Amino acid sequence: MIQFYNVTKSYGDHFELSGVNIRIAKGQFCFLCGPSGAGKTTIINLILGEEHPNQGSVLVNRRNVPDLRGNELARHRRDVGVVFQDYRLIERLNVYDNIALALHICGFTARREIDRRVEAVCKMLGLVKYIHAPVMQLSGGEKQRVAIARALIHNPPVIIADEPTGNLDMKQSIDIFRIFRKICDMGTTVFFATHDNHLVEGSGIPVYRVDNGMISYDVSP
Ligand SMILES: Nc1ncnc2c1ncn2[C@@H]1O[C@H](COP(=O)(O)OP(=O)(O)OP(=O)(O)O)[C@@H](O)[C@H]1O
Ligand SMILES: [Mg+2]
Repeated sequence: MIQFYNVTKSYGDHFELSGVNIRIAKGQFCFLCGPSGAGKTTIINLILGEEHPNQGSVLVNRRNVPDLRGNELARHRRDVGVVFQDYRLIERLNVYDNIALALHICGFTARREIDRRVEAVCKMLGLVKYIHAPVMQLSGGEKQRVAIARALIHNPPVIIADEPTGNLDMKQSIDIFRIFRKICDMGTTVFFATHDNHLVEGSGIPVYRVDNGMISYDVSP
């Protein structure tokens, strides 16, 4: 589903990832860990096609992402639900409209179906009481949950989450993690970047660790 072959990515002479190999099968859950500045968001941007590798290939569903253009790139981005580290919500719109927009982009037009899906995802993420609130009035953790709702709403086959629990307390982060596990159990591939060791340790979930420009793979007990 997601494959990196010998990927090198550098930003000038101050940052370089090299020899990156990743292989995440369809329906698998993997963590992406590493210290701040190690390159987690860079790896996610390579998967989305927002950045291109200097060398090597990045395949998603057997398509080489850097080769995608126009409609193919748009389709690729619809197939990958993303929770961005900086949320990328539209602050002046309310929660409902931010989430519904993702459905409009995917071609949904039936109002009833849109309402049903937005309500269901808001319920799952504890957002029902904020549904008509402008995003600019929400706390960091509430915005983070809206960003998660928007990534999940169209049931994409792949979800990439860039520190989706970074602004949540421990109880909320465990609840959110369980939602991602559940989505994975239903067949979605999940790549989950995190600093939350309490989620990773003892989970038995494979971890890609990025540090000092290198990546390693490890399955914690
Ligand atoms: N567009 C860019 N241009 C130049 N340098 C960049 C760019 N994007 C990221 N970098 C640099 O690449 C390195 C890795 O950044 P990245 O955002 O991938 O780290 P991260 O692991 O996601 O960190 P954090 O945990 O703080 O989110 C950093 O040194 C950063 O300054
Ligand atoms: Mg980051």
